[in-house]
Amino acid sequence: MTTSETTPAQDTGHINALRERMIERLRAVNALCSERVTAAVRAVPRHRFAPDFPLEKVYDATAVLKTKFDSDGRATSSVSATWVQTLMLERADIRPGMRVLEIGSGGYNAALIAEVVGPHGHVTSIDIDSEVVDRARIHLEQTGYADRVEVVVGDAEHGHPDRAPYDRVVVTVAATDLPRAWTDQLVSGGRLVLPLGLRGFQRVYAFTHHGGGLLVGETGDHAGFVPMQGLGAPAPTTVAATDTVVLTTDADPVPAPDRLPEVFAEAAREQYTGVRMGRNEYFGGLQLWLATTLPDFATLSGDAGDLGHATMGVHRTPAMWTGTSLAYLLLPEVSTDPVRWEFLARGHGPEAAELVDLMVGHVRRWDREHRSGPGPRFLTHPDLPDAPRVISTRHTRLLALWDQRGTGRLDWEADPGA
Ligand SMILES: C[S@@+](CC[C@H](N)C(=O)[O-])C[C@H]1O[C@@H](n2cnc3c(N)ncnc32)[C@H](O)[C@@H]1O
Repeated sequence: MTTSETTPAQDTGHINALRERMIERLRAVNALCSERVTAAVRAVPRHRFAPDFPLEKVYDATAVLKTKFDSDGRATSSVSATWVQTLMLERADIRPGMRVLEIGSGGYNAALIAEVVGPHGHVTSIDIDSEVVDRARIHLEQTGYADRVEVVVGDAEHGHPDRAPYDRVVVTVAATDLPRAWTDQLVSGGRLVLPLGLRGFQRVYAFTHHGGGLLVGETGDHAGFVPMQGLGAPAPTTVAATDTVVLTTDADPVPAPDRLPEVFAEAAREQYTGVRMGRNEYFGGLQLWLATTLPDFATLSGDAGDLGHATMGVHRTPAMWTGTSLAYLLLPEVSTDPVRWEFLARGHGPEAAELVDLMVGHVRRWDREHRSGPGPRFLTHPDLPDAPRVISTRHTRLLALWDQRGTGRLDWEADPGA
């Protein structure tokens, strides 16, 4: 069944024009590159998977179409923004004939995958929410994809062994870990593409399975997917510094959590870094650099008024908490014409000077060596030994590999060197 068979004739031209405009935009920002994925975007009627939304919104490349909310009004399900869907499909490098597992359903993305894998491939989509599964099935049925996509109810923590192994696993819900099942059910040479939140910063990662549970992959763009539910739901450890400022850490145990409010209230020591940002400059690489290289890393979030300067981004700012001292990074505006912001490290407690120095050194090193680089690659395996730059999650361990700009050399050293 095609769009033209079910949409009044007067709308078809309008829909096609909106879709072509969206495709142009996606191509302009490199979220859509291949002929295969472009053809899929042309073929699948996105509006039929989001009938309650205005067409202009459905075909806006950046709009997230939120379809379900929890009791606090937070979205638990959506048809994701097209830019992130096509970007992830491009990163997944899906080919005709492949078997693909999609984690998190909605229908539209699975239909795109079905177009790419073609009649000899297979798509399984799993969602923890039976209402989402029912709705996805109805939309897939109405658009003619029901035979090519199987939608099942389940907690993706276990993958979906019945149809394994998969050539590709595409996760469309925010993960904070890599459950063993996802790698076990992936062929050697297969790819796992997912939005993964590490130490508070969510990015799209594209991993290749090198066999035996070893994954190696690149870090991509910032993403903001709805959180995982079920066994993989995030369970961050937080410590309050004030009524509105909270430290989030994966230190286990958290050193002297009771001391944090007292230390935070102490007089601050501040040092500007000399590293400035202009309007629309991206500092996501710095967040990951600090998250993977600073000892005692944490994030601080809360009221900008209480923090005294603008925080880095709306949600959280990189921090360090040792149990006696705290340091964190702020980004106050330092000039208005042109507008410029400068990273500022601020510390409290007896080791404030050392922590501030360390943080300033790290920011300067990022500026010199990694500011315009691609960000880290990650190597992951559950048996990686303890080492600097190794992040432990419940199920695995991830080693951040930072290529030094221009040298093509991997920077394994832990020493930040200012
Ligand atoms: C962003 S939506 C998926 C979007 C969809 N792929 C599309 O076509 O746009 C994320 C989905 O993940 C589901 N989800 C959350 N936790 C899950 C889990 N543990 N296992 C399977 N699905 C989960 C939610 O119910 C939600 O429907």
